[in-house]
Amino acid sequence: MSGERVFSGFRVTGEQHIGNYLGAIKNYVALQDSYECIYCAVDVHSLTTLEDARLVGPNSLQSATVMLAAGVDPARSIIFVQSHVPEVIELAEYFAMLTPLSVLTRVPTFKEKVQQQPENVNLGLVGYPVLMAADILTYKAALVPIGIDQEPHLELTREVARKFNNHFGDTFPEPKSVHTETPLIRGLDGQAKMSKSMGNAIPIAATEEETTRLVRSAMTDPQRQRRTDPGRPEVCNVYSLHEVFTPGRTAEIHQQCTTAAIGCVDCKGILADSINETFREFRARHAELNAKPDEVRAILRDGAARARVIAQETLAEVRDRIGLMPA
Ligand code: TRP
Repeated sequence: MSGERVFSGFRVTGEQHIGNYLGAIKNYVALQDSYECIYCAVDVHSLTTLEDARLVGPNSLQSATVMLAAGVDPARSIIFVQSHVPEVIELAEYFAMLTPLSVLTRVPTFKEKVQQQPENVNLGLVGYPVLMAADILTYKAALVPIGIDQEPHLELTREVARKFNNHFGDTFPEPKSVHTETPLIRGLDGQAKMSKSMGNAIPIAATEEETTRLVRSAMTDPQRQRRTDPGRPEVCNVYSLHEVFTPGRTAEIHQQCTTAAIGCVDCKGILADSINETFREFRARHAELNAKPDEVRAILRDGAARARVIAQETLAEVRDRIGLMPA
């Protein structure tokens, strides 16, 4: 166990899918063996894009339930909801004073959102990475598991830490990102990255029957039209999913596909079985926890209390460094 601290935030926008699991959740679980970990349902961040704010509460509970079912262990780690530790909002405001608007408007995710929702370019949206910097630095985390797309936000976090340290004295470490080794998971269309909004995802909490049905709808090699045509695993997304979910049998599947010994329907049947096998334990625990929302709420309350101790300590130090008048 190293003394370094891990922090990560997960968005609370509805159902998680198997791509989220491989890209982030699995890493969250593994890091607990080596580090002190803090995981946060970023409900305030979700307000920058969520059309229906009433869903934020239920979605926070739901995504935390998924994390717990996947193996985030409240006995070893802290898991909590962002808005339950309001100190982070205060730190974000101090950081806002150190962050030029010109830097924020150049952030790629901001530019994307401006395209997507030109009618709602609010202050919170442009400040999104500042709040994320505050998330990480409130807990002085050294390591941050994130997807590649979040790298510019982490660079900005390091800039904010450096700037604060230069102005007010050494206070914050510069955090490093941790990426998963899992390759990018494409969706059932075989084209775009798996994502809920693209409608090409397999939810991790899907039933076995739903999983089988979804896998059956997946795109395979478009040149393989008849059962007797040999397939090309290199261009087939079902095969790439086998590499992740059926790692022990890829040589055999490759051979059977290229010789047309096996058809796409059977090949998909094997994949559905592998996915169902991978998530069987998760799904059982998920169903159990889903039936006990009060237990999940209690875990999150306890997590917030533990997180808050750290946050209050950091904020007291920050106010002192800045030179604000003590109350
Ligand atoms: N921006 C992250 C995402 O979209 C979520 C997030 C918010 C986060 N705060 C964080 C991730 C702090 C890591 C650390 O996925």
